[in-house]
Amino acid sequence: MHLRVNGTRHQIPPAWQAESLLDVLRDHLQLTAAKYGCGVGLCGACTVLQDGRAVRSCITPVAEATGDDIVTLEGLGGPDADHPLQRAWIAEAVPQCGYCQAGQIMSAAALLRETPQPTETEIDAAMDGNLCRCGTYGRIRRAIRRAAE
Ligand code: FES
Repeated sequence: MHLRVNGTRHQIPPAWQAESLLDVLRDHLQLTAAKYGCGVGLCGACTVLQDGRAVRSCITPVAEATGDDIVTLEGLGGPDADHPLQRAWIAEAVPQCGYCQAGQIMSAAALLRETPQPTETEIDAAMDGNLCRCGTYGRIRRAIRRAAE
């Protein structure tokens, strides 16, 4: 079994095949941007892209991700982390504690991929499941608008 993450193909040995995508990314591939928050698909901290769609990697069995293109925050903007959303996140000084922010950016990336000029309602709908205990929602919204310009 193989998993393609950020353009690199990884062999998934049998011992890992019952694990979640999040555990494989973090514990075996040392891609730690996606975070473990709730573990049950409710907070969004673990969000990554699977064939361009935002998915909760904590509830995605790695076996269901093989053959698809997985993108984590580490791969979103290339080696220079130069994706428009990453630049906008910096310009708007979005993070506070930072724990949820990789998931926030990946949900925003899925939104802009589908809808390059989202309305406020579309931003609300896309970001609804990504929780932030620091309450950075206003800055997240401004950063998404900035990245969409
Ligand atoms: Fe996956 Fe909360 S850790 S949704």
